Amino acid sequence: MEEWVLLKRFSTIHPSVNGLLYGGDYNPDQWQAYPEVLQKDVELMKLANVNAVSVNIFGWAAIEAEEGTYTFGWLDDVMDNMASIGGHILLSTPSGARPAWLSKKYPEVLRVNEKRQKQLHGQRHNHCFTSPIYREKTAALNKMLAERYKDHPALIMWHVSNEYSGECHCDLCQEAFREWLKNKYDHQLEKLNHAWWATFWSHTFTDWDQIESPSSIGENQIHGLTLDWKRFVTDQTVDFYRNEIKPLKEITPNIAVSTNFMGENPHMGPFEGLDYSRFADYVDVITWDAYPAWHNEWEKTWQLAANTAFVHDLYRSLKGGQPFLLLESTPSLVNWQITNKLKRPGMNLLSSLQAVAHGSDSVMYFQWRKSRGSSEKLHGAVVDHYGNENTRVFKEAAELGSRLASLKEVAGASVDAKVAIIYDWENRWALYEAQGFAKKHLDYVKTCEEHYQAFWKKGIPVDVIPAHYDLSSYEIVIAPMLYMLKRETAQAILTFVESGGTYVSTYMSGIVDENDLCYIESDPNPLFQMLGLRVNEIDSLYKADQQSVNWEGHSYQVSDFCEIVEPMSATVLAEYELDFYKNSPALTVNTYKKGQAYHISARTETGFLDAFYEKLASDHQLSNPIGIELPEGVSLQSRTDGETTYLFLMNFTEETQVVNIPETYELKEIVGEGPISNEVILPTYDVRTLKLVKGSVEVI
Ligand code: GAL
Repeated sequence: MEEWVLLKRFSTIHPSVNGLLYGGDYNPDQWQAYPEVLQKDVELMKLANVNAVSVNIFGWAAIEAEEGTYTFGWLDDVMDNMASIGGHILLSTPSGARPAWLSKKYPEVLRVNEKRQKQLHGQRHNHCFTSPIYREKTAALNKMLAERYKDHPALIMWHVSNEYSGECHCDLCQEAFREWLKNKYDHQLEKLNHAWWATFWSHTFTDWDQIESPSSIGENQIHGLTLDWKRFVTDQTVDFYRNEIKPLKEITPNIAVSTNFMGENPHMGPFEGLDYSRFADYVDVITWDAYPAWHNEWEKTWQLAANTAFVHDLYRSLKGGQPFLLLESTPSLVNWQITNKLKRPGMNLLSSLQAVAHGSDSVMYFQWRKSRGSSEKLHGAVVDHYGNENTRVFKEAAELGSRLASLKEVAGASVDAKVAIIYDWENRWALYEAQGFAKKHLDYVKTCEEHYQAFWKKGIPVDVIPAHYDLSSYEIVIAPMLYMLKRETAQAILTFVESGGTYVSTYMSGIVDENDLCYIESDPNPLFQMLGLRVNEIDSLYKADQQSVNWEGHSYQVSDFCEIVEPMSATVLAEYELDFYKNSPALTVNTYKKGQAYHISARTETGFLDAFYEKLASDHQLSNPIGIELPEGVSLQSRTDGETTYLFLMNFTEETQVVNIPETYELKEIVGEGPISNEVILPTYDVRTLKLVKGSVEVI
């Protein structure tokens, strides 16, 4: 296996950016009648050490109040004001919400839902992605923005639209879907019918016009159709985005473009609705909006931190480890959870630096200033309605601003991971579409996160990658519940193991191919030979059912899913302890060419995953960069450029924690704080940032 050494630093998103970005969504369009507020904003931004804001996200009506009549003055002022304090602008294209005149005059821009009901004007993030008029209008406005601000010193990035999501089932979209299908299936309905197994329930199509998007009042039983629809929705959204960036790229080729991705709540995970990996080639930098429900009542703080870390690592990995931008987060609370709890003192600093620790070159908020009315008036902001710097939230935000300024050398460093966990959007869609198993307990994201946590707890860097990403730089690749195993993916996994890689698969993997068709005898799961086994049955357990596996003398509880497997060449490492498949294999390993392939047959308690991956990591001599043990809830993350490694020690518990750094690492003085000992004391929610240069640790 080739050693992969990361010896580079990525450049910042714009030559004028020196260090980390700090700021957030700023909505001056709401405050045009309050010039004193806008003036004060600039002063407060300086006080808070803010150096970047996203503007014009929902500014369309402020720019084009009537069709063809444009007012840019307010935006000119904001751009100039930012430039006057040396700040940066992430300029938005405002397609996320449109003026009422547009919906009224061109109703084709309004979405039709899956029940084929046309929606009324209102809210946001709800345009038809196919509508030629919406595409024309947005591109035209983007062109004007690009022409107007192309040479503005504050402009550093295009923030394209806002959190694309959702789907439209209008006639235009139906037609586009059919074209997409014709393209995919070479204009041959037989190919489509076979891929969709349409003979089932007499669903064979004899004309392209018979095909409709899935609907709860129509067709929703053809899994291949549903899967293709979801793929189409992603492609159509990417296509809409590409239409938006076309004029930007033409007029401002050197300004980075991005569109902000989302996470999912209440258990933090990646947004399900769009396959973000399909955007990766068309965004210059990955950006995302993180809103974990800190201090909740259903999980420990560190567990939520680990889930959030998983998403950070996934989004960083989408663009080959290039630093991403945390584009939104709340400095205090949100207004859309069932219970909107305040971030406790210290949590904003901790959660923000966590993003930086995982590869973010920014900390940005929604929102800079609370709006005065409408649905987000009670959402947290750096500046409250009180409008002053004398609030807890503002003070903490300002403290974070100066901390980030002192961390500027971290910008551009990335993460050197030898372990990859596969998280795959299409797999998720196919798995949840499947009827069977114990549907309520599928927990695909949670399962990926549990495998990930075994490494997070040890501070071992991990990339999280979709199934079609390159595996060649990793030593260990783990694919939990890879239900949909595309032939191409299988081939890449075989090549990876053949050349010495270690692969871990689990229950419920390799059941269907890229078309959602099950592998069969004449066309078997292409990985069975590599795994040295065959999966015969999958048992789903009730909550009260008892099952366990015995591995290396320890018994571990099992829940939800147990596969009954038949080893061929695989060695059995652990067995079930109960029921009619007692003593049958629960964990196997098979040597295949130069590599090894493990198979975990059951959903085990996390204690098993921790122990199993500890052994695997130690077999591969993988540890965190300073080889230390971490107390529960303390995270150690590292960024490196190959020469200098930055370490972030973070306490995600409600108690003080102590971390011992071996004497071999010489600790330099903290600037202005005197010498520190190898025993690092971390109060609740504290973060220490260390620097490892040629065997020593320096606090920065
Ligand atoms: C985001 C959105 C922002 C704001 C925020 C509130 O999803 O992009 O505009 O609504 O949520 O938390």
